[in-house]
Amino acid sequence: MNQYVVAIDQGTTSTRALVFDHSGNIVSSGQMEHEQIFPQAGWVEHDPAEIWNNTREVIGSALSKANLTRHDIAAVGITNQRETAVVWDRTTGVAVYNAIVWQDTRTQGIVDELARDGGPERFKQKVGLPLATYFSGTKIKWILDNVEGARAKAEAGDLVFGNTDAWVLWNLTGGVDGGVHVTDVTNASRTMFMDLQTLQWDQEILDAFGVPASMMPAIKSSSEVYGTVHTSQLLREVPVAGILGDQQAATFGQAAFQTGEAKNTYGTGCFLIFNTGEEIVHSKNGLLTTVGYKLGDAAPHYALEGSIAVTGSLIQWLRDNLGLISSAPEVETLAASVEDNGGVYIVPAFSGLFAPYWRSDARGAIVGLTRYVNKNHIARAALEATAFQTREVLDAVNADSGVPLTELKVDGGMVANDALMQFQADILGVPVIRPKVVETTSLGAAYAAGLAVGFWKDLGELSANWSEDKRWEPKMDQAEQDRQMRLWKKAVTKSMDWLD
Ligand code: G3P
Repeated sequence: MNQYVVAIDQGTTSTRALVFDHSGNIVSSGQMEHEQIFPQAGWVEHDPAEIWNNTREVIGSALSKANLTRHDIAAVGITNQRETAVVWDRTTGVAVYNAIVWQDTRTQGIVDELARDGGPERFKQKVGLPLATYFSGTKIKWILDNVEGARAKAEAGDLVFGNTDAWVLWNLTGGVDGGVHVTDVTNASRTMFMDLQTLQWDQEILDAFGVPASMMPAIKSSSEVYGTVHTSQLLREVPVAGILGDQQAATFGQAAFQTGEAKNTYGTGCFLIFNTGEEIVHSKNGLLTTVGYKLGDAAPHYALEGSIAVTGSLIQWLRDNLGLISSAPEVETLAASVEDNGGVYIVPAFSGLFAPYWRSDARGAIVGLTRYVNKNHIARAALEATAFQTREVLDAVNADSGVPLTELKVDGGMVANDALMQFQADILGVPVIRPKVVETTSLGAAYAAGLAVGFWKDLGELSANWSEDKRWEPKMDQAEQDRQMRLWKKAVTKSMDWLD
């Protein structure tokens, strides 16, 4: 009875359900990709109905693969792509527009308009974020300004907003028949509307954006019972008891509970999170301040975050847009077939540059091309771009904290790539460490849910589950490291100031 916890990971490219046992091991899983919709350059959308259907499907496949029923499941946790904005009608349950994805840059005009009065850091002291297209706030405003009838309906109280955690939770707990409209502090901290001190929506900022407060979900902790499942027969009456944005979930799954601990997750993008404990630290070096987690009534833990928009998605782009490779793992083979990058640097500023630059006027650049360069060098440069971007973010973390990190815990899909992880350690100059369970995002959400229902008793029990799988020691000499970083930074300058 109740031997497992289910985590739903609603990510950028797919939705997954994973079943974990008490030791934090994966018992079974289900996964479905959803369509990436690109209506125009810079626009990225998902279909919220497809995401909800996929959620139900993957729950079914994860449970059936392991022959489990709802009686075996103690709790459900949700983790999600953050910032992606869904606005739906609370009476029909239908989204008024596709979800506008975190990578989408269509709201640049709104950002500029809001920045006119007070600059891009206008709300940063309160919310920890600069004005940027990345966060949910400008996306909600865009929907209200551009979808016919949306503003009037929102003002009448008919429309609600959520990141995909809230969308999935509302649907799971009943949808139009009493679904709970709730988000957690970590997701709320990515909207631009939550005051980091009070953990409440800030009326002044909502007014500046013209977003009615009635649209916003109630902000709860990351670990408590929000409601029980109603719409999925398979999990009927199981408590939904944990929500963490995916990067915060990975930090939690890595058991990085102590101040000064950090992790880097290699997914569609790369996100380095540095735990600052109960202190709100404002970055002087281009990092975001965000909520790390809050367990029930306990004090929140905050974090500094270095967000990189494009890492794994650059490899997908090589596959889908250029046809350079036929599958993502092939990039490793191509990259390994050459000694070095042949002088090529790729700056994948597809959504502008995020941390530490926050330059929305940047666009992707491939520099250093000569007649010598072939597709193997391009593949290698694409992988290396991930490592260089991470190094820039780590430098920012070190500068902000004043105490250089001595090692970096890593997770996510790309950490299976041995050559990349070695290059990462080389470029950082510190060891890179991979845990046994690399599905730390889902694990973190499972932990948050399991803690709330007493499936796990405390953080100590979770820390005991963490164990090291592999460690890459830096081998590159300092002069070479410096040379590579100098060239990388030069390439970055070429990507900036590109927009007309
Ligand atoms: O902030 C965006 C991030 O949450 C997306 O993560 O892993 O879905 O690419 P991922």
